[in-house]
Amino acid sequence: LTADTEGFIRANTELAAPPGCPAVRLHLATEITPLWQATEAFLEGHNLPPPYWAFAWVGGQAMARHLLDHPSLVRGKRVLDFAAGSGLGAIAAALAGAAAVEAAEIDPMAIASIRLNAQANGVSVGIAEGDVLSDSGCRWDVVMAGDVCYERPMAERVFAWLRGCAAAGADVLMADPGRAYLPRTGLMKLSAYTIPCSLELEDRTSREAVVYQIVG
Ligand SMILES: C[S@@+](CC[C@H](N)C(=O)[O-])C[C@H]1O[C@@H](n2cnc3c(N)ncnc32)[C@H](O)[C@@H]1O
Repeated sequence: LTADTEGFIRANTELAAPPGCPAVRLHLATEITPLWQATEAFLEGHNLPPPYWAFAWVGGQAMARHLLDHPSLVRGKRVLDFAAGSGLGAIAAALAGAAAVEAAEIDPMAIASIRLNAQANGVSVGIAEGDVLSDSGCRWDVVMAGDVCYERPMAERVFAWLRGCAAAGADVLMADPGRAYLPRTGLMKLSAYTIPCSLELEDRTSREAVVYQIVG
C-alpha cells in the first residue's frame, strides 16, 4: 500500500515550493476537486476529507517562515508539528536545526506525503504514533500547529490540548489567518506574514497569517 500511495501522490502532484516559503519543496496539487475525486477513487472511499495534505495552507506557510527566520526557537530541540498536513512545519523545523522532529496526523495520505516531502528536502521527520490529543503529558520542547481553527470541535479539542502542553512547559506555537474558530484569548502575537494564495482555496489572492505563542 505504501508504494502505491507514494506513486499516487507523485502522479497527482508537482514538487514545488509554496509561494510563502521558497526554501521548502512539497508535493502539491494545483486544484483541489480533481485530486479529491482521484483520492476517493484510489482509496475506494466516499465522503473522504479533502486532500489537505496536498496544499500548503497559509497558516502552515507562516509557521514555516517564522521557524526559518528564527531558528533558535527550535535549534537542538524536540519538536512536534501537530496536524502537519504536508509536513511543511516539521520540515522547516528540521531545516532550522531541531534535534528531533515528529509530525502528528490522522490522515494516512498525509502521513505518506509527509514521508515523501521530508525525503524531498533531505530531512528526517518521524511520525508520532497514535492520537497525541489523548496523551496527558508533553514529550516535546516545542509544539506547533498551523491552520487548525477551521472546524469548531477540532479547534476546541486541539486548543485544550495545546494549552496543556504550554502549561507543561513546552513552547507552543500556532499560526492562523483568522479562521472562524481562532480563540480570542491566551494568544501572544509573534509575527505576521502576507502569503499569496489561490482563489479556489481562500477566495482571495493573498492572506495575512499570524504566528502566535500560546500562553499556558
Ligand atoms: C488545514 S490542514 C493544515 C495542514 C498544515 N498544518 C498546514 O498548515 O499546511 C489541517 C490538518 O489537520 C489534520 N488533523 C485533523 N484532526 C487531527 C488530529 N486529531 N490529529 C492530527 N491531525 C489532525 C487533517 O488531517 C489536516 O491534514
